[in-house]
Amino acid sequence: MRTPVIAANWKMNKTQAEARQFVTEFLPKVANLSGVEMLIIPPFTAIAAVAEGLRGSAVGLGAQNMSKEAPGAFTGEVAGVMLTEAGCTHVLAGHSERRTLYEENDQLVGEKVRAAFANGLTPILCIGETLQEREAGQTDAVNRRQLLAGLEGLSAEQVAQTIIAYEPVWAIGTGKNCDPADAQATIAAIRGVVVEAFGAEAAAAVRIQYGGSVKPGNVATYMAQPDIDGALVGGASLDPASFAAICAGAK
Ligand code: PGA
Repeated sequence: MRTPVIAANWKMNKTQAEARQFVTEFLPKVANLSGVEMLIIPPFTAIAAVAEGLRGSAVGLGAQNMSKEAPGAFTGEVAGVMLTEAGCTHVLAGHSERRTLYEENDQLVGEKVRAAFANGLTPILCIGETLQEREAGQTDAVNRRQLLAGLEGLSAEQVAQTIIAYEPVWAIGTGKNCDPADAQATIAAIRGVVVEAFGAEAAAAVRIQYGGSVKPGNVATYMAQPDIDGALVGGASLDPASFAAICAGAK
């Protein structure tokens, strides 16, 4: 059985003060929730404040990005060891905003995934097609390409631990969430690629989230799908009541 995992991707939002306020309001709302793994993924500057606020709670902490390099002369970058020390257990790799706005290619995303494991971090590998690719019938081919490049060089055991986030680019931040049955079909195909490349055991264990305009009102329709193991939530994760309702709806 795969435990659902719900992650709050705050993107470039929240000062330290706002992050502290969120944690103070959020934790009591999920204190009695079990059977669902929860993660907060703040911007770098708020990681320490969130780590402090979450201490002793069941809610985990991740970062939105990391360098593929070890510490050194890489101005503006953050190394995996710095994230681990700051209390992170997870890190996003290949979010579509990184791919499109910051030109991260499949190969670099794969290097970041491998660097995450090398630093004891669990990667959340984000993949998904653009509207143009979807309309051209390329959804499964794009996901296969991004998935295989992202998981390249990993052992089956590492793949089993990885979290994959299927986020159709056209559904991110648009309010146009993917039809749950469509998301199920695409995620089943993604799991099929994992079977092919890493075996049935890894594929049965790997958790695959849906992301793209997830809200308290639609999260249950995704969680009802057999292959969807959680959600990566942007806009609706910024408000503590909204994110708590999504976590509760994931059970
Ligand atoms: P959204 O973002 O929930 O605001 O659509 C999801 C994401 O980018 O991870």
